[in-house]
Amino acid sequence: MAVSPEQSPDLEQRVRSIVAEHRGTRGALLPVLHAVREEFGHVDPAVIPVLAGELNLSRADVYGVITFYEDFRQSPPGRTTVRICRAEACQAVGARTLADRATSRLGVSFGETTPDGAVTLDQVFCLGNCATGPAVEVDGRLHGRVTPERLDTLLASAPREAGA
Ligand code: FES
Repeated sequence: MAVSPEQSPDLEQRVRSIVAEHRGTRGALLPVLHAVREEFGHVDPAVIPVLAGELNLSRADVYGVITFYEDFRQSPPGRTTVRICRAEACQAVGARTLADRATSRLGVSFGETTPDGAVTLDQVFCLGNCATGPAVEVDGRLHGRVTPERLDTLLASAPREAGA
């Protein structure tokens, strides 16, 4: 559930500081959103009115950008983030099988987090590892030539318990 800036003055204040750091940058919204995501792990919808006000944009403009880019998730990610490359080179060597397997094993679609908060599953279109696909990234660590069995191992290694 989104936290309103009134409920979280720290969030609002921090977002205003981030905007101030980028003031004067042409097209500041994208770098600001990246900075917000970097700091909080996601872009809480509560920041939309703050960003709109600070950057002199409409709320619809800000919302449109957030929802256009998959990078800007609106809820906190799981403790582990698994990203499966679905671009052409990886698709040609088995990425579709990995995608089906991951969604079925985890019981979530791309962009979703398992109900226990353990794993967020994302799709990505090229991880820069095309020659050794299919490629999967787990918490920023790249894995190449991932077989379905290897994917199972990677998924199983994600901690299921908070703090595990
Ligand atoms: S196409 Fe998958 S890493 Fe480039």
